[in-house]
Amino acid sequence: MRIDKFICATTDYSRSDIKRLAKEGAIRIGELTISDVSTKIDTEINTIYIFNNPINNIKPRFFMLNKPLGVVCANSDGHHKTVIDLINEPKKIKLQIAGRLDKDTTGLVLITDDGQWNHRVTSPNRHSFKHYKVTLAEPLDNNLVEQFKNGLLLNGEAKKTREAKLSIIDNHHADLLISEGKYHQVKRMFAACGNHVTALHRHAIGNIQLDSTLNEGDYRPLTQDEVNFFND
Ligand code: URA
Repeated sequence: MRIDKFICATTDYSRSDIKRLAKEGAIRIGELTISDVSTKIDTEINTIYIFNNPINNIKPRFFMLNKPLGVVCANSDGHHKTVIDLINEPKKIKLQIAGRLDKDTTGLVLITDDGQWNHRVTSPNRHSFKHYKVTLAEPLDNNLVEQFKNGLLLNGEAKKTREAKLSIIDNHHADLLISEGKYHQVKRMFAACGNHVTALHRHAIGNIQLDSTLNEGDYRPLTQDEVNFFND
């Protein structure tokens, strides 16, 4: 790994800070002062020092959070509480949301500082399923199951949605599995059929299920098995 990338990932220094520090001779690999920020390091064996302080390699972090209503999926927001506000961890600036939910949607949100893992969770090419519980204003028609399977043309889109699995629970409740994450996708899918979503809850992304012991607003680190679901 390049030394500037490593320092960026493990401290609050920006790339330009790191260049400046290198010019000042403040960065060492072991005993060796470096001026080239593209120098490659082996994070397993090299100890990096900034102003004689060793940088400990902070392992990437992975969390699941049970998002309450009214909280926004953003790192900061002038008006509303954000999912990151609910997290009490160091270096929050590094945290990214892996797949956002609307302010009025509840349930599973994954948060990480591993950009590649985030990319794998959200990449449309992985076709990983998101599992929603949906409450509808109008009664559900059994024909919808076939329509969702065949794909729907959403307002403003050129291509139909991918095959989705709709299971009708009762007149106003359904389970939905989709493998895409278009803007307001679930609401737009039901709008395309003349219905209206009144409540939406995500309870799984791929094989990661929302932990039923997590109260709204609470979070916990993912287990290694959960992380591994999105490791190649
Ligand atoms: N689809 C939506 O319409 N909203 C969400 O928050 C998630 C999926």
